[in-house]
Order: sequence, then C-alpha cells, then structure tokens
Amino acid sequence: MEFVSPEYQDHFLNPRNVGLLEEPDGTGMCGSSECGDWLIVTIRVEKGKIGEIGFQCRGCSAAIATSSAATELARGRTIEEASRIAASDIEEAVGGLPEDKRHCSVLGEEAIRDAIADYIGRSVGRSNRTK
Ligand code: FES
Repeated sequence: MEFVSPEYQDHFLNPRNVGLLEEPDGTGMCGSSECGDWLIVTIRVEKGKIGEIGFQCRGCSAAIATSSAATELARGRTIEEASRIAASDIEEAVGGLPEDKRHCSVLGEEAIRDAIADYIGRSVGRSNRTK
C-alpha cells in the first residue's frame, strides 16, 4: 500500500460531518468522470457563514478522507471564503495524496461550490417572490 499521511488516515477512519442535513439551505453534488465516484454536500447557512455541513460519498478511501477534510475546511467560513476552497487546499489538509488519487479532492471543491450555488439560487428565488 502506498504511504498515506496520518491526517489522511484520520479523516478516512473518523470522517467528520457524515450524513446529509435535513432541509438544507443548499445541496451540491459532484461525480468523477474518472472513476464514477460521487459526493453530495448539504449546507446550512447562518449569518452568511456555513453553520452546518454534511456529506454522503460513494468513493474510495481518498474520496472519503478528502470529503471529510473539505467539510471541515468549509464549516464556519463565509460562503465567499468557502467558495474559494480549492482541491489543492483539500489535498493539503489531508497531508497530500498519492498521484493517482489527486482527482479525488476535486469532488469536495466542486460539491461545495455547487451547494453554495444552490443556496444563492434559492436566496434569489426567495427575494424575487417577496417583490
Ligand atoms: S474519487 Fe475516484 S478513485 Fe477516489
């Protein structure tokens, strides 16, 4: 087995923020065309920040570890900050990835951005209805 960092092992064995939120403010999804794995992220926004976040993932150990790390990076951040979380930030948070697993961290980046886009879309819909 290739070397994986202690951070990677910890996120894989004890993933944070597992499970989808009920009635979230935003839901995002990303699937990998490379391997068919997927990630769903749900968020609750409180005062412009990601107050709660939960995920469900079907994927390899790296997908699970990076999804856990991605949700930890996003929780407590403003939606602007969270939307700037890049795959490279997620990879760094798990102490690096084997070369053939680097695409796994893209799931977190894209699913979080998709959830934020969904949240913004719903907010626009709500404000249009009140006009
Ligand atoms: S997400 Fe495709 S191998 Fe990990």
